[in-house]
Amino acid sequence: MLKRIVLLILFSTVNLLGAGVVSAADGDQLYNFYCAQCHGQGGKGDGPNVTQDFATDPRNFTNADEMQKLSDADIKNVVLDGGPAVSKSALMPPWSKTISEADVVEITKTLRKFCNCEGPTG
Ligand code: HEC
Repeated sequence: MLKRIVLLILFSTVNLLGAGVVSAADGDQLYNFYCAQCHGQGGKGDGPNVTQDFATDPRNFTNADEMQKLSDADIKNVVLDGGPAVSKSALMPPWSKTISEADVVEITKTLRKFCNCEGPTG
């Protein structure tokens, strides 16, 4: 019983500590934290980081035609390994040191909400 209480206290402390940073796998929060500065809060590729000397516009996630071409696996690759890994612009940074694969899965759900598309099937 005591052990349980201790565990409970430990658990809530961890939760409290985690509250300040982006902790739990909430795709929208993660997106806003890591991606929105370039891809835009609404996913249109118009984030505040994007200036005129940005050689390549960040992907507009609301463009369903373009997003439909990318499978969830394609998205995971480019997010973890960065633009150059898939012959795209280096302005798209690699995130594998920052974001876990599980969190990329959550972020992908947010991207799918923007495009309202599922990617290629099969
Ligand atoms: C520093 C700016 C920047 C940030 C931050 C950024 N991106 Fe990008 N992203 C880009 C640019 C620029 C491109 C376009 C690359 C191209 O088309 O050559 C891109 C392209 C993409 C693509 C499309 C790749 C393709 O094959 O067409 C996806 C998916 C993507 N980003 C996801 C994300 C996610 C998810 C995050 C947050 C974890 C993120 N990006 C953060 C700049 C950024």
